[in-house]
Amino acid sequence: SRTVKLAVIPGDGIGPEVVSEAVKVLEAVTAGTDVSFERTTFSLGAQRYLETGDVLTEEDLEAIASHDAILLGAVGGAPGDPRLAGANIERGLLLKLRFSLDHYVNLRPTRIYPGVPSPLADAGDVDFVVVREGTEGPYVGNGGSIRTGTPHEVANEVSVNTAYGVERVVRYAFAAARSRHGRLTLVHKTNVLTFAGSLWKRIVDEVAIEFPDVTVDYLHVDAATIFFVTNPGRFDVLVTDNLFGDILTDLAGAISGGIGLAASGNINPDGTSPSMFEPVHGSAPDIAGTQKADPTAAILSVALLLDHLGLADAAASVTRAVTEDIATRTGTPRRTAEIGDAIVAALSLPSAHAPKDLS
Ligand code: NAD
Ligand code: IPM
Ligand code: MN
Repeated sequence: SRTVKLAVIPGDGIGPEVVSEAVKVLEAVTAGTDVSFERTTFSLGAQRYLETGDVLTEEDLEAIASHDAILLGAVGGAPGDPRLAGANIERGLLLKLRFSLDHYVNLRPTRIYPGVPSPLADAGDVDFVVVREGTEGPYVGNGGSIRTGTPHEVANEVSVNTAYGVERVVRYAFAAARSRHGRLTLVHKTNVLTFAGSLWKRIVDEVAIEFPDVTVDYLHVDAATIFFVTNPGRFDVLVTDNLFGDILTDLAGAISGGIGLAASGNINPDGTSPSMFEPVHGSAPDIAGTQKADPTAAILSVALLLDHLGLADAAASVTRAVTEDIATRTGTPRRTAEIGDAIVAALSLPSAHAPKDLS
């Protein structure tokens, strides 16, 4: 039998609501198998900061890093909350975790599930994965401002792209394309961001030689947003930088039937530290505490987590149960916990084969 040490960070707003459902599904799908999850809950986020003044201490980070994997809900307070000014929970907590644990692959799959009400009238068959770089780009905090607060302020936010960082994420994307439908799209803005653009382009061209079975194409990010809406079925695997990937994946969530369905994994493919799984959405202060949040994104993040841990059958069971549930959605709103319960119930439908080979 196998015990997986799981760090759980419910976070703020709807985070704890959706994480409860995700944990429910995780427990249900592994019940009676030889895998068990030993969970440690970390209370971190805006709430914790307001109570203690701490965002993420070195002790927190060390304790989290000693786990096999991390499940996170969402962190961050209501935008503009003056009590959080200067704390920057997103940078000090979420990005700190992604950077310290070297989550260089931010994996964000999109499918339009059968029966889902996509805002696209005729979306076609949509199943793609955005491989978003997770540790570089404009996210690194390389910047500053001078003459701050004056009419002559100059604020710089420098995008950092290293050959090492680009190559490792590009290699991952090629391998992902090889294991899927063999198509890789690089998304950048090489016509304007010429320094970073030529680095990305060069590395994609170089790595492509080792993957002759993968077809490569390129889109400028602005044009990519057009195709996300007009022909998302053309995509298989996309690889892009941290900021473009952030923006594209909210759009991907929207076309796939709502941000409440979009899951993600912050992956350290080398296994040198735990990978972290979380919905793409944030803490949604506008609906927090009302049980209006859709926990599906958090539940599908559990499927990504199970896959990452090598528990492919359990992952497939979760995806199948979610697919069943989505197909029967009527448009009548259900409470967060009702959706979680329905997905747990769908796990034992005849079509959702009991997970096997869990070790
Ligand atoms: P958000 O994703 O929290 O909300 C955007 C909109 O989507 C809101 O109308 C919200 O109600 C809706 N929504 C989000 N998740 C939903 C769900 N599961 N079901 C139904 N509706 C859902 O983005 P925001 O408002 O820009 O950010 C709110 C806070 O969350 C900010 O502090 C932001 O920095 C933070 N944030 C955190 C993460 C994270 O922890 N990974 C991600 C994004 C934003
Ligand atoms: C996401 C979020 C984060 C990001 C923020 C909250 C730091 O928007 O996970 O997509 O920009 O990566
Ligand atoms: Mn985002």
